[in-house]
Amino acid sequence: MDLLEEVKSIVQKELISINSCHEWEHTERVFNLALSIGEKEGADLEILSLAAILHDIGRKDDDGIIDHAERGAILAKEILERYNYPSEKIEKICHCIKAHRYRNENVPETLEAKVLYDADKLDAIGAIGIGRAFSYAGHIGAKVHNKEVDVVKTEEFSSDDTAWREYEVKLKYIKDKLFTKEGRRIAEGRHAFMEQFFERLNKEVDGKE
Ligand SMILES: [Fe+2]
Ligand SMILES: [Fe+2]
Repeated sequence: MDLLEEVKSIVQKELISINSCHEWEHTERVFNLALSIGEKEGADLEILSLAAILHDIGRKDDDGIIDHAERGAILAKEILERYNYPSEKIEKICHCIKAHRYRNENVPETLEAKVLYDADKLDAIGAIGIGRAFSYAGHIGAKVHNKEVDVVKTEEFSSDDTAWREYEVKLKYIKDKLFTKEGRRIAEGRHAFMEQFFERLNKEVDGKE
């Protein structure tokens, strides 16, 4: 088995063992998307593949205190060192993992980090983004739809939280936050689909469609 396959099975076991199967499925989608963006952008696919597979390993033992991206980089380093993987490559992979969230000072600096960031964000929009938003709303006991509330004032994780709120306050801005040309191209299509979906949803709710 090659290194990527070995690492894949380690990550899969870790993410499934914390009863978070969706994290593993999300990881698989991000991996596939990162590779197709990476090929077009001319990224180093060896670094990108390993970074994508390992990017959410920090979700394991997530205590909400330490950033899962920071923790993920530490765990990824430990795993790759077990295989005597070259340290300069480990460093590049760890940068991608640390910067995949980019909510702090960890700005994606390399092409591979930018591609991983874009692939991770793209998994939150489009048809899959809609699916995830409704699935999450169901998980926290929120409504299917609630046009009566002001989405900007509605609280996240509350019973008023809906996929619609998620779209209005977060998802519709994702397309403007991406780094790569190919990522932005994919985002346009995914964004347009979501826009159409929610427009129709609001019409249906009003009995107009
Ligand atoms: Fe993440
Ligand atoms: Fe992720």
